[in-house]
Amino acid sequence: MKRIGVFTSGGDAPGMNACIRAIVRTAVYYGLEVYGIRRGYNGMIKGDIFKMESITVSNIIQKGGTLLKSARSKEFLTKEGRQAAYEQLKAHGIEGLVAIGGDGTFTGANIFYEEYGIPTIGAPGTIDNDLYGTDYTIGYDTAVNTALDAIDKIRDTADSHERVFFVEVMGRDSGYIAIPCAIGGGAEIVMIPETDTSIDFVIEQLRAGWSRSKTSFIVIVAEGDEEGSATEIAAKVSQQIPNMDARVTILGHVQRGGAPTAADRMLASQLGIACVEGLMAGRTNEMAGIINRELVYTPFIETITKQKLINPNFTKMVDILSV
Ligand code: F6P
Repeated sequence: MKRIGVFTSGGDAPGMNACIRAIVRTAVYYGLEVYGIRRGYNGMIKGDIFKMESITVSNIIQKGGTLLKSARSKEFLTKEGRQAAYEQLKAHGIEGLVAIGGDGTFTGANIFYEEYGIPTIGAPGTIDNDLYGTDYTIGYDTAVNTALDAIDKIRDTADSHERVFFVEVMGRDSGYIAIPCAIGGGAEIVMIPETDTSIDFVIEQLRAGWSRSKTSFIVIVAEGDEEGSATEIAAKVSQQIPNMDARVTILGHVQRGGAPTAADRMLASQLGIACVEGLMAGRTNEMAGIINRELVYTPFIETITKQKLINPNFTKMVDILSV
């Protein structure tokens, strides 16, 4: 293999740049040529492809977002789109790919490999931390710390005004961001898609708190919770406790930006190197990840079909720590 391509796809995540940098520098180190593909699969289809050198990735390790831009490609879902992408890669002489992204990215990569056989290795880049095959994904640690910083600030107002704040964090359909936000942010209640937390339970917890002279509360709601969004949950609770002074804060895309933490820069660098070394060793259709501090490669099909379970003790921790 002489020439590889790298792209970022799906939601951007802090540390993607550090990963691109590691991929480019590892390729250069081993004497491979490396091409950047802009805008994920959309750029692959359009041939938005350029040669990268070591200098191309100077001064980006500390930056959020992705130098290569990102997209969720609808065209790549079609056979024609993938055929066009293959033609472009062939025209550019690209013999191997490194995909940085989440489950949508790897679903696409898996189909593409089965159809056209271009060796592909993935680096888990998503704030959601919802990928099987790695303890942590690139961007997760930064997102949690960004959210936590916001929650600390919200707590000041919750405390001053003696309010109940329903704070919605990202995660699509996973509670991985919500759990450390709740434990680290000292929340009274956490609601995640993986466990059933009823509105009655929320009301019971609030009433129990008030009876113990607690005057402010933080309820962390993960996107995708079975009771609905933070706004819907706050409305359902308010219906039964009309005099409750409640506010809703949706943290949203603030969680996706910003400079990556040390942990994310380290993970991104480690996995970037592992992706290129994996390709060179003849690996394909796998994601590089770290489990129990060891580097592992997991087939794409497992990363997208198997669920990474959340330790149920974590929700219990929130209950214990808020009595
Ligand atoms: O997958 C990352 C993520 O930020 C999810 O947490 C969230 O549900 C989704 O992307 C938002 O996607 P978009 O930026 O396309 O609105």
